[in-house]
Amino acid sequence: MNKVIITEHPLIQHKLTLMRMKDTGSKDFRELLTEITMLMGYEVTKDLPLTDIEIDTPVGKTNSKILAGKKLAIVPILRAGIGMVDGFVSLIPAAKVGHIGLYRDPETCKPVEYYCKLPQDIGEREVFLVDPMLATGGSATAAIELLREKGAKNIRLINLVAAPEGIEEVHSKYPDVDIYVASVDEKLDDHKYIVPGLGDAGDRLFGTK
Ligand code: PRP
Ligand code: URA
Repeated sequence: MNKVIITEHPLIQHKLTLMRMKDTGSKDFRELLTEITMLMGYEVTKDLPLTDIEIDTPVGKTNSKILAGKKLAIVPILRAGIGMVDGFVSLIPAAKVGHIGLYRDPETCKPVEYYCKLPQDIGEREVFLVDPMLATGGSATAAIELLREKGAKNIRLINLVAAPEGIEEVHSKYPDVDIYVASVDEKLDDHKYIVPGLGDAGDRLFGTK
């Protein structure tokens, strides 16, 4: 059964509050999302395996720990997921980046796929699927389905803000996918926007509205 890990660090919560404010502009919104992603990255990468190597410090030899070289892939759901790539890539520079393009049809609120480009060896990689918003869960479950079709086995979903409905949707369809989130908000409104949420993440990131 999947876990929902809520990253409650005070810096994350403070920065999320700034992002929610309607007068926060795109520049600050982008920077805050990158900063929060890096802070969430601490939690998401907490169980990465380590191995010992022998090194020389200026003072002597020691056995010291490095990452065991697990292969990772960061996969943003376009567009808004792009805002979480830089934060992760700066923490894990060796990770490959795939892209899944989905938009919510404004009438039906169902996801429409328009792009998919993944690392060829996605099946051997631990996948961090990133998108700031988990509303109905339609986009996340469509992205997980695509990843599974391409052979991905281990997937973690990383969102900034989630609605209970979205968590339930992922939970029921993909019980083995853990969800990392900075906040579980109250509900969805009639237009399937998260309440209180932060509005349309893609538009706020890219200044398109
Ligand atoms: C937003 C968001 C998620 C999706 C969440 O993208 O970034 O991908 O909606 O909603 P859901 O859980 O109900 O599927 P949107 O479709 O607005 O596209 P955009 O990122 O290109 O603006
Ligand atoms: N997509 C967003 O960007 N925000 C929401 O609240 C719901 C879907």
